[in-house]
Amino acid sequence: MRLHDDQLRDISARFQAEMKKGLSAESNAAATLKMLPTHVCSTPDGSENGEFLAVDLGGSKFKVLQVKVRKEAGRVRRSVEMQEQTYPLPKELLIGRGVELFDHVSECLKDFLLQKKISLEKKHPLGFTFSFPCQQTALNQGLLLNWSKNYWARGLQGKDMVNTLRQAISRAGGMDVDVLALVNDTVGTMMTCGFDDQHCEVGLIIGTGTNACYMEELRHIDLVEGDEGRMCVNTEWGAFGDDGALDDYLTEFDRDIDAASINPGKQCLEKMVSGLYLGELVRLVVLKMTKLGLLFDGRVTDALRTKGKITTAHVAAMEQYKDGLKNTRDILLDLSLNPSPDDCIAVQHVCTVVSFRSSNLVAAGLAAILTRIRQNRKLKTLRITVGVDGTVYKTHPQYAKRLHKVVRRLVPDCHVRFVLSESGSSKGAAMVTAVAQRVTARRHQSLSSFRLSRDQLRSVKARMRAGLEAGLKSNSHSPVKMLPSYVFRTPDGTECGKYLALDLGGTNFRVLLVKIRSGLRRSVRLYNKLYPIPLEIMQGTGEELFDHIVHCISDFLDYVGMKKARLPLGFTFSFPCLWKMFLKKRFSWTKGFKATDCEGNDVVDMLREAIKRRNEFDVDIVAIVNDTVGTMMSCAYEDPQCEIGLIAGTGSNVCYMEELRNIEKNGLGEMQRMCINTEWGGLGEDGCLDDIITEYDNAVDRESINHGRQRFEKLTSGLYLGEVVRQVLLDLTRRGLLFKGRVTEALKTPGIFETKYLSQIESDRLALLQVRSILQHLGLDSTCDDSIIVKEVCGAVSRRAAQLCGAGMAAVVDKIRENRGLDQLNITVGVDGTLYKLHPHFSTVLQETVVALAPQCYVTYLLSEEGSGRGAALITAVARRDQVEM
Ligand code: BG6
Ligand code: BG6
Ligand code: GLC
Ligand code: GLC
Repeated sequence: MRLHDDQLRDISARFQAEMKKGLSAESNAAATLKMLPTHVCSTPDGSENGEFLAVDLGGSKFKVLQVKVRKEAGRVRRSVEMQEQTYPLPKELLIGRGVELFDHVSECLKDFLLQKKISLEKKHPLGFTFSFPCQQTALNQGLLLNWSKNYWARGLQGKDMVNTLRQAISRAGGMDVDVLALVNDTVGTMMTCGFDDQHCEVGLIIGTGTNACYMEELRHIDLVEGDEGRMCVNTEWGAFGDDGALDDYLTEFDRDIDAASINPGKQCLEKMVSGLYLGELVRLVVLKMTKLGLLFDGRVTDALRTKGKITTAHVAAMEQYKDGLKNTRDILLDLSLNPSPDDCIAVQHVCTVVSFRSSNLVAAGLAAILTRIRQNRKLKTLRITVGVDGTVYKTHPQYAKRLHKVVRRLVPDCHVRFVLSESGSSKGAAMVTAVAQRVTARRHQSLSSFRLSRDQLRSVKARMRAGLEAGLKSNSHSPVKMLPSYVFRTPDGTECGKYLALDLGGTNFRVLLVKIRSGLRRSVRLYNKLYPIPLEIMQGTGEELFDHIVHCISDFLDYVGMKKARLPLGFTFSFPCLWKMFLKKRFSWTKGFKATDCEGNDVVDMLREAIKRRNEFDVDIVAIVNDTVGTMMSCAYEDPQCEIGLIAGTGSNVCYMEELRNIEKNGLGEMQRMCINTEWGGLGEDGCLDDIITEYDNAVDRESINHGRQRFEKLTSGLYLGEVVRQVLLDLTRRGLLFKGRVTEALKTPGIFETKYLSQIESDRLALLQVRSILQHLGLDSTCDDSIIVKEVCGAVSRRAAQLCGAGMAAVVDKIRENRGLDQLNITVGVDGTLYKLHPHFSTVLQETVVALAPQCYVTYLLSEEGSGRGAALITAVARRDQVEM
């Protein structure tokens, strides 16, 4: 049993190799060290707060506790108050039916609440220290892989222990307890010690069983996605050697212990090291020596033959510095032996050999972990704290000292501090629970205001419908403007010619050349160039803006070599314009545009004047087209059923084919239908959406350049969703619930969350760690938990947006259906916009909402592939021909 340092180094090296094997996805199944991810990503950071219940199952004592963590006013340190109660755990329960074991646990929990007069009405968060190997995919979930130590309760292997406890608690009834975190005792110990010592990144148990956990780099943990930051890994090192890796160090006594255990072949290292077995090892050695006549004159007693008669507590007593020999004599007498002084010395020596081997093996394992951490961090020397718990470590007189000494000898490049976990692992479990609770509480608090019930959505549909109807009335001042577009029909394939098109108002400004062919070989070909519009021009003077546009056209005409041709021009102008026939477009700005001296003017005049000022080329401005209308026309070219255009992009808007008889402001007798640009983004300007508008939306509105306007758009479009998210994050941070309560400059920067980031953050294929790196890119330093919250906030905000658009769309399709007196309407919606196209869930949620709210309409969604420039050219073609025909 004696192991010298070279042997320990050899074991340590084997240990390291096995850790690697356990971390890799390919070899994990075959590895003895299971290296279980614990989903604990940070040691205590000082933000933990609150009152928690804890259940501690699996050590030598079964305990129920209450832990109160407080930050006292005016003091940096927090205080922790604990009260606990140890409950007996009858042996039969350990090896009986699992259900009964957990029923007992929850009965004790209930008794604890009653005894300590803790309210049964209040909801209590609970952290569950469960000292067995569990496979965890989250803090609040853990499948029991196998029992160890002296447990073998039936029917629980492979089951989720959190759920099992929850079910038992609900069977017991009469209390409101929410199991939020499942924590291995090693992890609890690391967190307990980490509360006082920030460097504590290893948790070690040498008690009934033995095990260790440590903070591993996430990029090395194959079983968890992500590559930045760290996560605590539960090594389950007790199983080391189960594949024979320690066979050359095993003795006949170890083999006997294993054969007589309830889990033969399992937990090889644990059986050489931990408290459940040390006493028994001593007994087996003493028995053999006696049988060989080396002790007690060869006289073996029944007691000495009986399993369990020498315990680890006996071993500790026999090794006491002063009273050791006396204790040894008393213990041996108790076994009906008749020891001579030499016998006592010999037996004491056996104890020392057995317990020394234990601490040596632990030292070898710990050396492997510390070396790995040092190498992970590419450090020459590592300064680290190891939190330790367990009866062997705590009560054996020389164990700790020997362990420390050997570890320091094996890894001289690590400066290790050992800290005894005074208050057990439940304090640490409470820290973990505090983090879990914060996550849940944040979820509930701020996100509930974004949740809309089916009834609320129905009512939004009704309000949109009312808005549409009101807007159709002449002289109406409805916030939904219902602007006539003077587009009376969708394309029929007879359009042809070469057109210039402009596209202003979305993410990009584009100039296009569109060639349309009619007849059998009908086709549309596009040549286009993107031109960014700098913010100072968007919000400068009208003259500057239009001069810039003309400059871009000039550049484009050079690019396509058509400066001389006086091309007909269609202008996609994605803002509300009041039409007087095709020209005379008095408009107002929305979204991010605010160029001065424009609103109320005629767009066409402004463009013409700018062209004149430049005096380089000429065009024939034929049509001004809203992007919704352009999109509808572009899609209708492919699908004649397309009679609606939807934009869910920087802004939000819809157009559709309305019956002329319904349009009081038309003045055009014979035509049947006209496309109406609803400008639905204005809904709510009269306060009709106030009941669903949150404080965050109001903040976004206040800070926008068009305060009080476009309220529906501000709930639904790309320009604003990121801002709503930012407002929620700001609030959570100010309340100390996020980013450690630090409101950074980045977070105070309007516009940092562009739609594309929201879309990326919400992508299901993205690991949390990638979310973190996006946040990092935005200047937001986050923990794993922070990124969960951010993702949820994004989800809540974008889901509401999609539902509201769906409710609006349901109003539009039902109106068309009723217009036409149909029981069932089949219709296609042409769609464009970055939000719709890039966001992973927006389109699905929108479509589901329409199905739910307008069940009599069968709606097909057709993505506009080439932007509304193509549609603008088609409209120009139609308009030109109609002009000629008129
Ligand atoms: C305690 C923990 O402090 O240490 C237990 O709270 C853990 O959960 C124990 O199992 C380990 O020691 P022992 O000796 O009780 O098994
Ligand atoms: C484009 C249109 O395809 O979609 C633009 O051509 C329109 O005019 C845009 O505004 C909407 O999308 P976004 O996301 O760029 O605003
Ligand atoms: C056993 C368990 C392990 C626990 C250890 C100490 O080895 O499998 O999960 O940490 O005992 O209690
Ligand atoms: C804004 C504009 C509207 C446009 C929409 C989508 O709501 O007012 O005209 O259609 O954005 O770009």
